[in-house]
Amino acid sequence: MKIIKLEPKKFSEKIFQMKGISKKAVEEHLKLYQGYVNKYNEIQEKLSQLTDDDYSKANQTYSLIRELKLELSFAWGGVINHEIYFGHLGGNGKTPAGVLLKQIKKDFGSFEAYKKDLKATGISARGWVWTAWNEKEKRLFNYLGDAQNTFPVWYAKPILALDVYEHAYFMDFGSNRGNYIDVFFENLNWQVVEENFKKICCCQCGENCHCEDCQC
Ligand SMILES: [Fe+2]
Repeated sequence: MKIIKLEPKKFSEKIFQMKGISKKAVEEHLKLYQGYVNKYNEIQEKLSQLTDDDYSKANQTYSLIRELKLELSFAWGGVINHEIYFGHLGGNGKTPAGVLLKQIKKDFGSFEAYKKDLKATGISARGWVWTAWNEKEKRLFNYLGDAQNTFPVWYAKPILALDVYEHAYFMDFGSNRGNYIDVFFENLNWQVVEENFKKICCCQCGENCHCEDCQC
């Protein structure tokens, strides 16, 4: 099996100077991110070393290959979720603009309605909420996740990730997750979210295209 080794990303220094989210909380949170990177690499090594004996023992209740593949998805989720999350924090919390705002209004009615849905979805989740572009449906939707690897939806590409695991907010907010989500919005860099949106341009379709540079 080919090994694709990950390196941890460097994020903006601004994530250590956020409003309401302490430097200490971010530093501790980044250690978890580093842990996911390490485990993703380690699990790939283990997969590449599987023997014929391991393969012959494949089993859906318990087997080494089952455990490794299962936890690979958890580690990958831990890496990607946190890269989106820290990648768009450290901003001034102003509202989105351009093509992203246009799409939000189209799919949610208004920016306020979108925020209300994202916050309530975040309060209802046990791990994450993602705003994702569903390529099949051609719309933005706020998806809910109970863990790093649940519940991905086929054709949905995340452009915004909100961590609602307790480790993301307990140090600064106690059990007040709603307050944490409000503060998350205040520290968002919407330009990054808009860039994320543009990067997943639907060039394949030629319809409902949201990318200004699209040639389709
Ligand atoms: Fe986290």
